[in-house]
Amino acid sequence: MTRPRISARISAISESATLAVDAKAKAMKAAGRPVIGFGAGEPDFPTPDYIVEAAVEACRNPRFHKYTPAGGLPELKQAIADKTLRDSGYQVDAAQVLVTNGGKQAVYEAFATLLDPGDEVLVVAPYWTTYPEAIKLAGGVQVDVVTDETTGYLASVEQLEAARTERTKALLFVSPSNPTGAVYSPEQVEAIGRWAAEHELWVVTDEIYEHLTYGGATFASIATVVPELGDRVVVLNGVAKTYAMTGWRVGWLIGPKDVVKAATNLQSHATSNVSNVAQAAALAAVSGDLSAVEKMREAFDRRRQTMVRMLNEIPGVLCPEPKGAFYAYPSVKELLGRDFGGRRPETSAQLAELILEEAEVALVPGEAFGTPGYFRLSYALGDEDLVEGVSRVAKFLGQVG
Ligand SMILES: Cc1ncc(COP(=O)(O)O)c(C=O)c1O
Repeated sequence: MTRPRISARISAISESATLAVDAKAKAMKAAGRPVIGFGAGEPDFPTPDYIVEAAVEACRNPRFHKYTPAGGLPELKQAIADKTLRDSGYQVDAAQVLVTNGGKQAVYEAFATLLDPGDEVLVVAPYWTTYPEAIKLAGGVQVDVVTDETTGYLASVEQLEAARTERTKALLFVSPSNPTGAVYSPEQVEAIGRWAAEHELWVVTDEIYEHLTYGGATFASIATVVPELGDRVVVLNGVAKTYAMTGWRVGWLIGPKDVVKAATNLQSHATSNVSNVAQAAALAAVSGDLSAVEKMREAFDRRRQTMVRMLNEIPGVLCPEPKGAFYAYPSVKELLGRDFGGRRPETSAQLAELILEEAEVALVPGEAFGTPGYFRLSYALGDEDLVEGVSRVAKFLGQVG
């Protein structure tokens, strides 16, 4: 009998659709085509100088040339605990922090640590592409709670309750959300947190976009708003989006001590400590003020307004106002099956493909986020490119027959 070359567990993982769109757009660009990419999930700003300088200094420090504790530099863990109290009012101590190789590793380790095979996790759709793979790898079962543009992609307690079973172990809570930009109000956060506490569910809360909210929306940490959740909360976060540090790969997980200890054991065998140079940079970032992110936030807010206005002017496109992160998530359902110069895309994936070929604009189709019929557009790109890119999409979609 021939055995499969790749294990069933790993063959079940799909390629990251967002990275795939980005790679295709970059390849077309490299071939000389003037592609405008709305695919990337990263700020277009450079990392602030004082952070880069801290890393340069760390390179010259012999202490950082060696292994350091697998769970993170003690001074960084303390600084993350302090920053968490400053930014979300959540009091934790350094032993509750695990420094990870980006927020992605924190997502993976959180589910690997919490889930046994068959445990169900409630996930609000549209959801970020990495969650299903992390849940699946841990043997968990994802249960989708589907939202749409009519509620601004916000899930209600009633919807969550309808999806809960006796196998439900955790709720994944993401606000501000990637891909929709939805932000739950503090009252909504409280209602959902109370419901989770009442049913003794774990809450895994991804707070990586905490500083990017707009138009009066405010971030509220479910861990702070609902202290009754007690020791069943795991907070995921990182420096990538707040400090324009996607390439540095530093994130973290905050949780009860037993969870953090277990996740640290896992990490100690998988990757050991995160690069010390990157940790030193992250230390400068989280210990500093928030002026750099405030400047980025203002630019994102301006671009957000331009993008949403332009998208909503396109017949057949419906874009609720995103209140956080840096993504717009319009519905294009009305345009599917229609005639575009002899081509009739039936799915948002096909329509995105056509737009990339014909209008040279890269968008991520909703299929990547569990909800076909939509596009995700990042507005973390320059103002001029943004206007040019959406204008090209408008022109292409405007020829609908
Ligand atoms: C919702 C969300 N969580 C976590 C991450 C992880 O970011 P990183 O691994 O770059 O720190 C991302 C990145 O796109 C994200 O959108």
